[in-house]
Amino acid sequence: MRSYSLIAPAKINLYLEIIGDRPDGYHELAMVLQSISLADQIDIQSIGIDTISVRCTHAEVPNDQTNLAYRAAALLAQQFPDAMAQFGGVEINIKKNIPIAAGLAGGSTDAAAVLVGLDLIWQLGLTQSELEELAAQIGSDVPFCIQGGTALATGRGEQLSPLTNLDHLYVVLAKYRNLGISTVWAYKTYRQQFNDTYISAAQDLQTRQQRVHSGPMVSAIMHRDGAEIGQLLHNDLEKVALPEYPQVLQLREAFEAQGVLGTMMSGSGPTVFALTESEAEALRVLEAVKTQIANPELEFWTAKFISTGIRLAHS
Ligand code: C5P
Repeated sequence: MRSYSLIAPAKINLYLEIIGDRPDGYHELAMVLQSISLADQIDIQSIGIDTISVRCTHAEVPNDQTNLAYRAAALLAQQFPDAMAQFGGVEINIKKNIPIAAGLAGGSTDAAAVLVGLDLIWQLGLTQSELEELAAQIGSDVPFCIQGGTALATGRGEQLSPLTNLDHLYVVLAKYRNLGISTVWAYKTYRQQFNDTYISAAQDLQTRQQRVHSGPMVSAIMHRDGAEIGQLLHNDLEKVALPEYPQVLQLREAFEAQGVLGTMMSGSGPTVFALTESEAEALRVLEAVKTQIANPELEFWTAKFISTGIRLAHS
C-alpha cells in the first residue's frame, strides 16, 4: 500500500479581465492568479481493487463524478489503465479548509492534488507540462493550481506565465457562510450584459492582445510594490456580482474603510479579500470588520501569499 498527503492551496485573483468569446464557448481571459496559504489536505492511498473512492470532511462536497477530484482520478485511470491494473485503485480523503463555491478554486486545487498524488502512486513519471495538459481537461484553473505562486493566466486561464514571487503580502478573506455564487452563472450573466464589449474570436491574436490591460498590474508585481498592486486590483465579474449580491459590496466597503492596500472579490465570488503588508495588520482588519458587521454568518480567514502550488505535506 502506498499513500501520500498533499497540501492543496487556494488561489485569489489579483486581476480578472474578460476579453471576449472563444471558439470553444469559454471566455478569453487575462488573469493574475496568486496562491495563498489557506489550503485543503488531500490524502491518497492505493487500495487493492480497481475502484476510485472520494470522501470529504465537508458534507456538501459530493463523492461522485461531479467532484473534480474524482474526475481527475477517473481521467488518469482512463489514460493509464495499465498503471491502475498494476498498482490498484485509490481512496482519496479530502480535509476541506477552503470554503466551497467561493471563488477560491477549492475544487480545482483538490483535483490538481489528485493528479500530482496519482502520478506518484502509479509511478507515471509525468512532466509538469503533461500534468498541466491533463489538468486543463478538468477545469480552467487546475493547471495553475498545480504550478502555484504568482502567474499571468491567459487563454481560458490555462496558459501560464510565472511572475515574481510576492510572499511578503498577506490577505484577509471574508464570506457569508451560506452564500455561494455559481461560476457558470457569473460568466453567463456577464455575457448577457456585456456582450457588446467582447472582442470576437475571429479577430487576430495581436488585435485581441492589444485589448488586454493587465500590463500595469504585471509591472507592479515585478516591482513587488504592494501599494500599487492594491490600487490595481481588478475583477470584471464584480460588475455582475455586486448588483446581485449586496453582501459582497458591504464587505468590500468595510475593508476599504480600514485603509487596506486594496480589496476585491475573488474569481466569480462571493469571497472578498483585502491585502495587507503584515500578518498583524491582517488580524487587526479582520477583528475590526468582524466587530463592525457583527453577523454570526460571516466567516473570516487570514492567509499569506505563497510561492508554491501542490506540495507534499510535512516537506
Ligand atoms: O473551466 P471550468 O469548468 O472551471 O469553468 C467553469 C465555467 O466557467 C465554465 O463552464 C464557463 O461557464 C465559465 N468559464 C468561462 N470562461 C473561462 C473559464 C470559465 O466562460 N475562461
